[in-house]
Amino acid sequence: MASSPSANGVLIFFLLLSAPVCLSLNNTTASLQSHCPRSKTPRRGSPAGSSFVPSTSFLSTLHSTLDEIKKVMSLVSTFSSSLDCDLRVSSAVSDCIELLDLSSDELTWTLSNSQSNNASTEGTGGKRLSDLHTWMSAALGNQDTCKDGLGGTGGFVDSLIAKGLEKVNSLVADGLREIAAAAVEHAGEKGGRRRLMGFPEWVSAGDRRLLQAQPAAVANAVVAQDGSGNYTTVAAAVAAAPAESPRRYVIYVKKGVYKENVEVKKKKWNLMLVGDGMGQTVISGSRSYVDGWTTYRSATFAVAGKGFIARELTIENTAGPQKHQAVALRSDSDLSVFYRCGFSGYQDTLTLYYAEYMNYGPGSGLGRRVKWPGYHALSDATKAANFTVARFIDGNSWLPSTGVKYIAGLTV
Ligand SMILES: *[C@@H]1O[C@H](CO)[C@@H](O)[C@H](O)[C@H]1NC(C)=O
Ligand SMILES: *[C@@H]1O[C@H](CO)[C@@H](O)[C@H](O)[C@H]1NC(C)=O
Ligand SMILES: *[C@@H]1O[C@H](CO)[C@@H](O)[C@H](O)[C@H]1NC(C)=O
Ligand SMILES: *[C@@H]1O[C@H](CO)[C@@H](O)[C@H](O)[C@H]1NC(C)=O
Ligand SMILES: *[C@@H]1O[C@H](CO)[C@@H](O)[C@H](O)[C@H]1NC(C)=O
Repeated sequence: MASSPSANGVLIFFLLLSAPVCLSLNNTTASLQSHCPRSKTPRRGSPAGSSFVPSTSFLSTLHSTLDEIKKVMSLVSTFSSSLDCDLRVSSAVSDCIELLDLSSDELTWTLSNSQSNNASTEGTGGKRLSDLHTWMSAALGNQDTCKDGLGGTGGFVDSLIAKGLEKVNSLVADGLREIAAAAVEHAGEKGGRRRLMGFPEWVSAGDRRLLQAQPAAVANAVVAQDGSGNYTTVAAAVAAAPAESPRRYVIYVKKGVYKENVEVKKKKWNLMLVGDGMGQTVISGSRSYVDGWTTYRSATFAVAGKGFIARELTIENTAGPQKHQAVALRSDSDLSVFYRCGFSGYQDTLTLYYAEYMNYGPGSGLGRRVKWPGYHALSDATKAANFTVARFIDGNSWLPSTGVKYIAGLTV
């Protein structure tokens, strides 16, 4: 029933987009409404053997969400070739395609993990509910990032796909509610398991040693500006790293300031970057919103590949505060570790929360802090406790096996 109006909708887009204009499309929202059929087919439930048995409505929500994402992606894709003339629009469009693709992966993992007992392929193993929750929360954030990017483009593409994004998010939120309810129910069991487990499958026992080892001794590839390594840029070494590697692949980046933007794409699994120290090995970019990049795309270093580890280096964005959003690091990757790394950049967005608690030493006086709306000086330990390693990233369940030293709670 829905197929003929959608076909019409797509046709309309192609006709309009073939005109040599950037931003003067008119009245195409009508075609969007036909992009929302919702599958009502009940799916089979989970095989036995797990503590979380997803309901048929949960599974059908996931399927509907995946269908919806496909539709929004194909709609967004129709803009990708026609809007080259405006960097910000074209990068917002390509961000959205990438982000929706990420959501689609995350929901596919959610689906396959909630349907089988097989946690060997994705994520962290047995902590099923926590994984499902992580993936679905990430999938919820992606659409917002997409929308933020488009929001800065003058509103036209934004208004076209807003409905689709809203629909995706409301479906994901439905699914998340079910996961959250199940998590409450299984809270006791989860707590018990958390202490026993702690060895996610993506981390080999050897990672602990890698985090302490001399980089030159363990590197698969070396980056050096003076030509003494295999590559002279980090991006080249990352591009040459094996795809979907089940084993850790270590890139040693020798001392130097690398003026480049690096993207660890989602197929680059288990990559580890080791530098010569914070402030010694520096990856330095300067993309910013003001210069036409989306916030998402302004990142000097972006990680989507799972199992990423960085050690002893600095990632910076030097665009400066007058350039508005200029992000040093973006990490979409599940279970990344940044060990003894420095980050510097600027961001003044409204979608963000900054807080500090009980700082001391030079610069700790609160008198000359920025006046950003997201900035908070916390004075209440119960508030600050929500941002500890244990609570905020559930660190006790996975950090021990990486060898990273950390403090789980508040020590003041
Ligand atoms: C868009 O629609 C308005 C009326 O709503 C019209 O005045 C304008 O010319 C149209 N623009 C294009 C490019 O069709
Ligand atoms: C836009 O399309 C809708 C539905 O096709 C139509 O009712 C409306 O009059 C159109 N608006 C303009 C400004 O052309
Ligand atoms: C579990 O995942 C592995 C690796 O992808 C696959 O070979 C195996 O068939 C899966 N088992 C089940 C029961 O789905
Ligand atoms: C890097 O160079 C070393 C020494 O020449 C060589 O043994 C190694 O295989 C090279 N690695 C890569 C990834 O090219
Ligand atoms: C801490 O987080 C919990 C749930 O994440 C929230 O309900 C609670 O209000 C937060 N506490 C404070 C003091 O912010």
